[in-house]
Amino acid sequence: MTILTIESTCDETAAAVIADDGTVLGQCIATQEALHAEFQGVVPEVAARAHVERIMPVIDTALRQSGVRPDTLTAIAVADRPGLAGSLLVGVVAAKTLAVAWDIPLVSINHLHAHLYACQLAADSTVYPCIGLVVSGGHTSLYHCQSALDLDYLGGTIDDAAGEAFDKVAAMLNLGFPGGPAVSKLAAVGDRRAHAFPRSMIHDEHYNFSFSGLKTAVRYCIVGPGKSDFSAVRLTEQEKADLCASFEAAVVDVLVSKSRRAVAAYKTPRLIVGGGVAANPYLREQLQTAADADGFQLVIAPMDLCSDNAVMGAIALEKIKRGEFASLDLDITAGLQR
Ligand code: KG4
Ligand code: ZN
Repeated sequence: MTILTIESTCDETAAAVIADDGTVLGQCIATQEALHAEFQGVVPEVAARAHVERIMPVIDTALRQSGVRPDTLTAIAVADRPGLAGSLLVGVVAAKTLAVAWDIPLVSINHLHAHLYACQLAADSTVYPCIGLVVSGGHTSLYHCQSALDLDYLGGTIDDAAGEAFDKVAAMLNLGFPGGPAVSKLAAVGDRRAHAFPRSMIHDEHYNFSFSGLKTAVRYCIVGPGKSDFSAVRLTEQEKADLCASFEAAVVDVLVSKSRRAVAAYKTPRLIVGGGVAANPYLREQLQTAADADGFQLVIAPMDLCSDNAVMGAIALEKIKRGEFASLDLDITAGLQR
């Protein structure tokens, strides 16, 4: 069994050719970071157009690298939800077209479940059952996972995603896009207690998150309440570092607190964590401290599989084993929390 996986949910165009034991035979990722940097965030129209230009060369490169003949593929798997509508459409249309041309079945991938599956790809044995935390640019969600494909949604953000908050704070401090890596780098030399930023809903029973209040608190701290003009703001590097460190501490405290509570409530032996923000060193460190203290196993996606990629699309192998194929009228589902 050999599959082709396609990922175009947001701003990376990616394809991979994967054998049934999970071995990656070929892969290619074309990032759009440079295209969106001047806007300090992903512009959906720009993203969709860039996917159109890149999708076929990316698929071609992954296939050539693998040496696999397209007509010998077992299936073509594509992330059809959730994501930006225009971006998703490019991947889904490409996958459907190739499925018809090569007469190969189609498999649908839930991008969020794939982010969690990146943890399984790095583990020696099964990571299920577990609590799964997805922290990305578009989502912050907690699941109770019985298997790679049997996930119960426990809760998620009711406004901004964790990664989105990192990107917005980076934009306020003019640190470039994507903001997460820049904020975490500065945070490492800042004082986490310099500002007492809000940890919204941290003590609430439910598993929902809210980061928009935190984002506003950071904004008020920089420009003053009710103001939005950042042009006159002059901050020293240390002041920026202290803001980043205090902001990061607030995000991480909430993520760690809710995750460890879910592990205890559902009595799972482990926590798995995927998505772009899972690359954050302070989050990784604090999660490990919680895991050691509470006695659960922590599996975080490897660094190269945290941000969007097609390799985590190996989750499609699990679907194929269950005989779960998609029909050619497969549609996209853009807005979805779970
Ligand atoms: O999973 P991903 O590549 O795309 C989505 O599915 O959204 O996540 C991208 C997000 C961006 O918001 C980016 O700023 C954030 O992940 N990110 C980080 C770090 N590296 C990437 N956030 C915090 N710390 C990092 N080191
Ligand atoms: Zn993602």
